[in-house]
Amino acid sequence: MEDKKIRGKRKDEHLLLAQHLPAGPGSSGLENISLINNSVPELELEEIDLSYIFLGKKLKYPLLINAITGGTEQAADINRALSTLAARQHIAMAVGSQTIAIEDPSLRYTFALVREANPDGVILANISAASGVKEAIEAVEMIQADGLQLHFNIPQELAMPEGERSFKGILERVKKISENCPVPIIAKEVGFGFSRESIERIYQTGVSIFDIGGQGGTNFVSIEDQRRGMFGSELDGWGIPTAVSLIEALSMEFPVKIIASGGIRSALDAAKALALGADMVGMAGSLLKILLNHGPGELEKEIKALFYRLKAVFLMTGARTPEEIKEKPLIIMNETAQWIESRGIDKYKWSCR
Ligand SMILES: Cc1cc2nc3c(=O)[nH]c(=O)nc-3n(C[C@H](O)[C@H](O)[C@H](O)COP(=O)(O)O)c2cc1C
Repeated sequence: MEDKKIRGKRKDEHLLLAQHLPAGPGSSGLENISLINNSVPELELEEIDLSYIFLGKKLKYPLLINAITGGTEQAADINRALSTLAARQHIAMAVGSQTIAIEDPSLRYTFALVREANPDGVILANISAASGVKEAIEAVEMIQADGLQLHFNIPQELAMPEGERSFKGILERVKKISENCPVPIIAKEVGFGFSRESIERIYQTGVSIFDIGGQGGTNFVSIEDQRRGMFGSELDGWGIPTAVSLIEALSMEFPVKIIASGGIRSALDAAKALALGADMVGMAGSLLKILLNHGPGELEKEIKALFYRLKAVFLMTGARTPEEIKEKPLIIMNETAQWIESRGIDKYKWSCR
């Protein structure tokens, strides 16, 4: 078992590096998606309704504050601020990996406070996809979670000197967790993106919610490089861009829910992901940067501004709801178009609808 002190130190180092490192070098591919201006939408802003039912609870906006942290004092402060914000704005939130608190129960409060601050909201637990059933249930109970994120982070593990080296048997573990967990499972990438082949294999284990976690935002290979990682900077561009991973996932046409995340920084990014077909969007690094650099007040202001702009973009496309924006035409260009074409996916499905 990994030393608890090393785990805690790593958590705080991740926060510091995520605060200061720029996103990239890869991009999300969302810059290659264009929504189409509608000059006669016959709508008023008041009518735009972005509410979304997730895991049986109503959210005001289809936004998830994605998994970031827990397990240290600084992490507790961050979780307190983010969960207070999630409760006030009626959006969902995931905690960071809870393994640290499963190993050391004195750290549970750094996660449990998220439920205390937001008794009625949607809160997701988080552990590695390689975990056992017992840990999965403990993580859920620790925060009375509505769902459990199982993270898949192979490039990050391989980049870390202290990381895992064996990834055999993960699908079997995920299957066991999904059969025994009291709440729905969300398979989650952490910035390297799921391919459709990976989605298919994970879907077969019984998982029906995917957070595609594509490339273009927080980059855990770059972060580990800064912590004397094993990859140098050679593999900083590894991963599937968010727009591509999202399209790959959608192309399977499985009856699944899809959360688009990885490099979502703006209302326009979020609207593009929802228009492509995502059910929700997740944001981590960009929110964390605002929180750490400017404080919780500024973060709440920015989130409210983002919601205003998101509604504005919906109106400008002529869509009243997230369901309607999925029917609006959009354009897929450049590398994103080339990528999906070379994978045999028809880009005109989106532009001719
Ligand atoms: C400091 C930091 C710590 C993170 N820790 C976790 C974690 O413990 N578990 C997890 O599933 N994802 C973790 N993530 C990944 C995010 O949930 C997200 O998948 C990734 O950052 C891509 O989204 P972004 O580009 O919006 O940051 C972390 C992200 C950051 C910035």
